[in-house]
Amino acid sequence: MARLIAPPSRLRFWLLALGLLALTLFFGVRTLASDAEKPIKRNYAAVFAPPAPETQTKEEAAAKSAGCITCHTASDAWTMHRTEAVVLGCTDCHGGNANIRLPSPSSDFDNPAYVALRDKAHVLPRYPKSWHWPSSANPQRSYTLLNRESPEFVRFVNPSDYRVVRDSCGACHIQTIEAAERSLMASGAMLWGGAGYNNGIVPFKNYVVGEAYTRAGEPAKIVSPGNPSGTVTAEQKARGALPALYPLPTWQTVMPGDIFRVFERGGRNVNTQFAEVGLPNSLGSIQRLEEP
Ligand code: HEC
Ligand code: HEC
Ligand code: HEC
Repeated sequence: MARLIAPPSRLRFWLLALGLLALTLFFGVRTLASDAEKPIKRNYAAVFAPPAPETQTKEEAAAKSAGCITCHTASDAWTMHRTEAVVLGCTDCHGGNANIRLPSPSSDFDNPAYVALRDKAHVLPRYPKSWHWPSSANPQRSYTLLNRESPEFVRFVNPSDYRVVRDSCGACHIQTIEAAERSLMASGAMLWGGAGYNNGIVPFKNYVVGEAYTRAGEPAKIVSPGNPSGTVTAEQKARGALPALYPLPTWQTVMPGDIFRVFERGGRNVNTQFAEVGLPNSLGSIQRLEEP
């Protein structure tokens, strides 16, 4: 590269690099605001709930909903299941403190007394700013915010999130959970595998990477349910079953605007722009030196 770039363009290169760095810092700081927010230390003892039990009495379940339904008065189904055969209280799935009651019905949601009760009953986030808390609308770009949140809060806003689903649904649905965790819908293996192989990033035609997270939000390896787990029989292999999917490699630099750009091979001549393989410039002069 040193030989290809003459001094004036080398200077231009560094000026541009600096400019890009400044831009990255500016937008980086803005878009990664959730990275910058310092987590709040929370004590979740009062809102802790053990995993949902497979069976319990209606009274036990009702006690776990008692406070919640003084405010959440008009849910379509109390257990999120239509059938009455499923006996559950709100905190079995969501966690929270079901002993906090609103003394009399109120729709004055901004009243400080109401807000105080709500916040005592709810599981509060460690990153309230990034969630635009207390609004329950999801932030437009949450990136990996869920991975940094406490499992207690993740369970509160989505009891069926794979990081915490064993607590909320595991007693009754463990088979479905384990199958769903390994599904293409959850791992995205086809995207990463196809893009990785077709762009020459990995030499494996059989997919090796997929997305999954542990309860603590760390990257997880997905293994087949074989015996031992993480293996497949010759027959399963012939059908295309995979023994394991590994976490995506870490991305050590700031994410480019278009994430598919990272799948490009990169150019020999990084001149005034990042490599534009397959995107001819107006003169085509750079492309002549480039890989086809
Ligand atoms: C004092 C009233 C009050 C009580 C008690 C209460 N909630 Fe809420 N809850 C609210 C209000 C109001 C919202 C909507 C907040 C918003 O979007 O502005 C809400 C939102 C929620 C949400 C969505 C939160 C999010 O950020 O996505 C969940 C889940 C929830 N409540 C569950 C519960 C459970 C479970 C209990 C009982 C342990 C409970 N609530 C007790 C008033 C209450
Ligand atoms: C079987 C487990 C289960 C039970 C029991 C349950 N929920 Fe839920 N609840 C869920 C799931 C799963 C969702 C969907 C979360 C999502 O889509 O992110 C949900 C969604 C919600 C939401 C909307 C959350 C949001 O972010 O907008 C509220 C509010 C809520 N539940 C309140 C309650 C209350 C109050 C009770 C008790 C009367 C209750 N739930 C009982 C599993 C449950
Ligand atoms: C106490 C046991 C129990 C827990 C805990 C439980 N479920 Fe269920 N769930 C059932 C039963 C039993 C059925 C079947 C009900 C029926 O057939 O009418 C069911 C049915 C369902 C269905 C409908 C499936 C279908 O084929 O129509 C969904 C979806 C579901 N549950 C989701 C959840 C989620 C998500 C959670 C956790 C947040 C959860 N359940 C927690 C017992 C439970």
